[in-house]
Amino acid sequence: MAEKNWPSKVMWTGDCLYILRGMNSGSVDLIYLDPPFNSNTDYAAPIGSQAAGAAFKDTWTLTDLDVEWINLIEARHASLYRVLLAAVSPSDKSYLVYMAARLLELRRVLKPTGSIYLHCDPTMSHYLKILMDTIFGRQNFRNEIVWSYQRWTGAARHFQRMHDIVLFYAMPEATFNLLTEPYSPKSKHKRARRSAVTEEGKLEQQYTEDDSRQKAMRDVWEISYLNSQAKERVGYPTQKPLALLDRIIKASSLPGDIVLDPFCGCATTCVAADDLGRDWVGIDISPKAAELVVRRIADRQGLFREIVHREDIPKRSDLGKLPRYNSIENKQRLYGMQAGDCAGCGQHFHMRNFEVDHIISRVKGGTDHIENLQLLCGACNRVKGNRGMAYLRAKLQLT
Ligand SMILES: C[S@@+](CC[C@H](N)C(=O)[O-])C[C@H]1O[C@@H](n2cnc3c(N)ncnc32)[C@H](O)[C@@H]1O
Ligand SMILES: [Zn+2]
Repeated sequence: MAEKNWPSKVMWTGDCLYILRGMNSGSVDLIYLDPPFNSNTDYAAPIGSQAAGAAFKDTWTLTDLDVEWINLIEARHASLYRVLLAAVSPSDKSYLVYMAARLLELRRVLKPTGSIYLHCDPTMSHYLKILMDTIFGRQNFRNEIVWSYQRWTGAARHFQRMHDIVLFYAMPEATFNLLTEPYSPKSKHKRARRSAVTEEGKLEQQYTEDDSRQKAMRDVWEISYLNSQAKERVGYPTQKPLALLDRIIKASSLPGDIVLDPFCGCATTCVAADDLGRDWVGIDISPKAAELVVRRIADRQGLFREIVHREDIPKRSDLGKLPRYNSIENKQRLYGMQAGDCAGCGQHFHMRNFEVDHIISRVKGGTDHIENLQLLCGACNRVKGNRGMAYLRAKLQLT
């Protein structure tokens, strides 16, 4: 297990894929993510709200498809690649590749004793469940949590859509503090029974309401949706309630643990983690999010005093013992993995004709780890250079 390679309580601005690629493996205890849902909507905060100017895109086309990642997944994660092929529409496929790349990195940074909660809705929850099963292990699936709420929606041809889904996976040795909730008012378990002797000298059972009696928490969570008047509301589109994060963090971490939210928006997770004495890392692509977090923090006395805001890609310190990327050791392993065929043109060569290539180039945060390396023949490597495999393939088809 690696140590973390970043300061405590840090808020990063940037695409979480690249920030995650710089984080040490096995260094985070709990991850909560609330990524774009593939809702076919682009979100913007209302003008005049604290969050005005914050916006993010949630419409997906094939031009969003990260071909370098598709290539890496095809080469190194065959079962995951088959899941991606199951997506019917190009926009679903593009969204799932985007998610798969980030979930693979999240799997890497999660401790072997960690837990992850993926927030989504029924638009993509069925596909995401299979992605999560493939990446985090079906045996580690714990719950499909239904966050049930009331809000104003239009519904003419279907029932009112009033819930989100949170997929919860935990490694076998992960922390889990079972939370409790009160019995419903009508439940007989809520009543404490005692025997008493009546004035006539008869033995009688008496019942009193006992609010302290609790039952194990169910996987359906009734938590109010943040309406426009809610006190904690900062106007950030898709802001989640603190009460939701409070449950997740209490259930799956201990004080001092590290909580990561790679799509943190206005930092609801970081605020809840801080309140509960956990360390945290928030990442968001929007510079507005970081600006807003600083303001949200200023309003919360005492919290986040040591917050650090960064935009660089962190430098992993757990890669020190890796062999040089073009070492003979790597070449031999890759030669075996590719059965002696070039990853570009597919032709078979002797090992001495191969060069080691970074699938995702180093300028894009690609590492020297074997996962990110492949063998190309000299001709293919010269064509590809620092570019992606899509470029090489397009060129090969033209010649
Ligand atoms: C659904 S919102 C999260 C809201 C958050 N849970 C809250 O309570 O404020 C999704 C967030 O993901 C961010 N985002 C989108 N793509 C991203 C990426 N590639 N890396 C990091 N953040 C991203 C958006 O800017 C947006 O703030
Ligand atoms: Zn070749």
